[in-house]
Amino acid sequence: MEINLSTDINNISWEDLARVFELAPLGKRRDPEKLEMAFRNSLLKVFAFHGTKLVGAGRALSDGVWRAAIYDVAVLPEYQGRGIGSTIIRHLIESAKVDVIMLYAVPGKEAFYEKFGFRKMTTAMAITPSEEEARERGLIE
Ligand SMILES: CC(C)(COP(=O)(O)OP(=O)(O)OC[C@H]1O[C@@H](n2cnc3c(N)ncnc32)[C@H](O)[C@@H]1OP(=O)(O)O)[C@@H](O)C(=O)NCCC(=O)NCCS
Repeated sequence: MEINLSTDINNISWEDLARVFELAPLGKRRDPEKLEMAFRNSLLKVFAFHGTKLVGAGRALSDGVWRAAIYDVAVLPEYQGRGIGSTIIRHLIESAKVDVIMLYAVPGKEAFYEKFGFRKMTTAMAITPSEEEARERGLIE
């Protein structure tokens, strides 16, 4: 199956991308307008297409020099397990060209990221909208 990566943000249906996240699944249903804003504000973004069908995506915040943070990596369920997620991560890592790349995994997905060299941090901290919910989801202590 031929999958093409694109970094062209002007060619994206944000409704389609919202559907990719919803079906993957990754978090709550996203507002397509907010999704567009988040991707436009991210220095690095990549979209995976099967023909004209959007099947996966990922993005990273980056200062372009030292630090980057990967978010929102998702692949449509029927396309998972075919190396598309790995291709997206590798693209983000290689194009970031910074010293440190951070991310936080959905609980259970840590092993996926370890393959690329990510290691658990001992001092990473976060402010979240709801501490209780973040704790329930296994994201904070
Ligand atoms: C996580 C996700 C992006 C991976 O995409 P994918 O296209 O299925 O990944 P790949 O086919 O490239 O899989 C790469 C490898 O990781 C492995 N892998 C995938 N999910 C894994 C998991 N939860 N734990 C351990 N290994 C995992 C695969 O078995 C594969 O191993 P292999 O290379 O030895 O065969 C995809 O499953 C997804 O969209 N999930 C829902 C959204 C999500 O959880 N995103 C991540 C947020 S942290």
